[in-house]
Amino acid sequence: MPMRLQRFLARAGVASRRGSEKLMTAGRVCVNGQVVREMGSKVDPAVDTVTVDGSVVRLAERPCYLVLNKPEGYLTTMSDPYGRPCVAGLVPTERYPGLFPVGRLDGDTTGILLFTTNGNVAQALLHPSRHVDKHYVALVEGSPSAKDVERLRRGVMLDDGPTAPAELTLLAPDDALFRVVAPEGARGDTSVVGITVHEGRKHQVKRMLAAVGHKVLVLHRDAFGPLTLRGCRRGAWRMLDDDEVRALESLGKNLNKEKGDKE
Ligand code: URA
Repeated sequence: MPMRLQRFLARAGVASRRGSEKLMTAGRVCVNGQVVREMGSKVDPAVDTVTVDGSVVRLAERPCYLVLNKPEGYLTTMSDPYGRPCVAGLVPTERYPGLFPVGRLDGDTTGILLFTTNGNVAQALLHPSRHVDKHYVALVEGSPSAKDVERLRRGVMLDDGPTAPAELTLLAPDDALFRVVAPEGARGDTSVVGITVHEGRKHQVKRMLAAVGHKVLVLHRDAFGPLTLRGCRRGAWRMLDDDEVRALESLGKNLNKEKGDKE
């Protein structure tokens, strides 16, 4: 997209807009080899070469953030040596090199999976101290009792240690999330539950529900921290909006600051 030269220079971090105008007036800025002094001049960052004092100036690439509504049957990996379907094939990796998933969902789990090119933010979101809530909806065998709910709330013992407290709610058939995992209604002795966890251990939700006697038959994640799918259909992805990006980046900044404080 063409933009005013002084705006381009400011966005590239060369100087403020006023400072950039001064550089232009001083004849220090060239576009495609020609000195440009006129304030109304425009450049197209995709095609024009801008230099200041002979050094090429480029706009910093902004990190990419998107969410995928992962379908069943895809592995959360960017490549698979056996050629099995993986999530890399569903997101725009050519347009955004370096894109990778933040955390993982099992092959048979559907729902929200965040991708980014920003390693700091990914690290922050996965860090145990962040306590990023993940909300799942599950079709389970049987009907969890008040005692099961209480056990999950307090934390259950798994083979790799106790879990942090989780919240479990039983969903009614008129709940939109109910239909995501039981489109034709819950059959036989099954129920639909919503569960919020903030850890990210392997098969965590399935193991937690199994620990209180309820095998998971279908699992879908509908929220990851502040992010939801917001109408993104199964197999599709959407870019995050500015508010969502700000929320994620501030998590990243806080973690890096805390790390710096400790060092
Ligand atoms: N917990 C699970 O058991 N599976 C997932 O895919 C995600 C959380």
